[in-house]
Amino acid sequence: MDHDLIVIGAGPGGYIAAIRAAQLGLSVACIDEWSRDDGGPAPGGTCTNVGCIPSKAMLQSSEHYEHIGHGMAEHGIEVGSVKLDLARMLARKQQVVRQNNDGILYLFKKNKVKFLHGRAAFAAKVDGGFEIEVSGADKATLRARHVIVATGSRPRALPGVEFDEKRVLSNTGALALQKVPERMGIIGAGVIGLEMGSVWRRLGAKVTVLEALPEFLGAADAQVAKEAMKQFTRQGLDIQLGVKIAEVKPAAKNGPVKLRYADAKGAEQTLEVDALMVSIGRVPHTEGLQLDKVGVKTDERGFVVVDGDCRTEVPGVWAIGDVVRGPMLAHKAEEEGVAVAERLAGQKPHVDFNTVPWVIYTSPEIAWVGQTEQALKAAGRAYKSGSFPFMANGRARALGDTTGFVKMLSDATTDEILGVHVIGPMASELIAEAAVAMEFKASAEDIARICHAHPTLSEAMKEAALATDGRTLNF
Ligand code: FAD
Ligand code: NAI
Repeated sequence: MDHDLIVIGAGPGGYIAAIRAAQLGLSVACIDEWSRDDGGPAPGGTCTNVGCIPSKAMLQSSEHYEHIGHGMAEHGIEVGSVKLDLARMLARKQQVVRQNNDGILYLFKKNKVKFLHGRAAFAAKVDGGFEIEVSGADKATLRARHVIVATGSRPRALPGVEFDEKRVLSNTGALALQKVPERMGIIGAGVIGLEMGSVWRRLGAKVTVLEALPEFLGAADAQVAKEAMKQFTRQGLDIQLGVKIAEVKPAAKNGPVKLRYADAKGAEQTLEVDALMVSIGRVPHTEGLQLDKVGVKTDERGFVVVDGDCRTEVPGVWAIGDVVRGPMLAHKAEEEGVAVAERLAGQKPHVDFNTVPWVIYTSPEIAWVGQTEQALKAAGRAYKSGSFPFMANGRARALGDTTGFVKMLSDATTDEILGVHVIGPMASELIAEAAVAMEFKASAEDIARICHAHPTLSEAMKEAALATDGRTLNF
């Protein structure tokens, strides 16, 4: 065998699995086909190239733009006219992406992972392992005892509506628009719709979001979703729920995209936009892998079938990240990657899906970990709930960002924390404390008794814990 392990895909699942396995002494090759504009390799997957990293870069830049334009006067700072240089903003985003691509190539070298730039496919099952064919820049035939499939996901298209990435956009096109569209339509009010919708609204587009479900952000705690809807609407996002798309028609070259849809009451509506983003979820990516050559199965939705430990039904083949069941999140993919590498080295790791945090990087940010209040109710679980508004937090007032609250849910009898929900400033960072607490099976009282620095936003977490016992100190 050439290697102990071949990892197919260098997204956050694959590259982290490769590094961890190499750290544990395995001989590892990692293959990824993503290319940068100049044809060179661009490891990091969806996350680095057209997902987490560039979207957060654009969210940051667009937030600065909006803030400098509208949020400085209350601080006593007068700003002259603010001008957008979109080309420069996009170039910065691309530079951030490049730094991450290069960082991964450096990490491969440092950890002695052999990286191949090209497309991998299963060629055959061989004695004691598998043969993998690599086509593209680093054409090769490799053999390994184990293979991890970490090929990720791709955007789901509306039936009959192709992405041209100029006017009908997936996340890829929506991160690279060369001009701010006057009118932007978004189908799907999920995570991508809200994040990218926020970016282009802040930069000046009139954004309409069409969502099929009658309820907004169904995965979030209902109280958080309600507050989010209020804030996004106030900012100018036109979010329409319960719609049914009837037709999407891009007009002739450079013309608008015309939509016909039924609104929540069933009345026919039309909408004309200069750019339309379709963000209605993602589908697992296994094309060209030739899984059938070794007997690896996919389910009816195309996900590679794995057990709780990411084993496929074929001993020696594993699969992790977006291409398997579970939340499509970079950190979930990473945890699975580490766990499989450690299993290969004889360790017994465990990934707890209940403590995987969710974050939506809008403004206000939304973050949660554990169960929602509606899920606890549906399960008939007796719980306590405590909330604390940022309005009553000194640091939030000083920052000038008092939107939202922290909400903690704990077991009525044992006081164990069951879920924490944050909407407000730096929710993405605050949620880490809750995830740690839940991993350690902490009670709300544990958080309430821990000394939190003053003045910090984290004091709102402590106060929410106190609130579960009806004894907030500052509200
Ligand atoms: P991917 O990152 O998709 O990587 C798979 C890699 O495999 C790709 O590089 C692909 O080229 C390669 N590949 C596929 N087939 C082959 C083959 N046959 N041969 C060689 N290479 C192959 N998640 C978060 O946690 N936080 C966020 O803020 C966040 N923001 C996002 C924003 C957007 C716009 C999008 C689209 C997604 C976002 N996500 C975010 C989700 C996150 O990007 C994914 O969950 C994550 O990338 C999944 O990692 P992965 O390793 O499973 O797959
Ligand atoms: P999503 O699942 O978050 O949202 C898709 C939305 O589209 C849902 O609300 C769904 O009801 C709606 N929808 C589906 N079909 C529709 C139709 N025909 N008409 C109108 N609405 C329709 O998926 P999204 O936003 O595409 O993102 C994919 C995944 O990427 C997310 O689930 C998430 O896992 C990941 N992601 C994570 C981010 C983060 O962690 N901050 C950021 C962006 C993406």
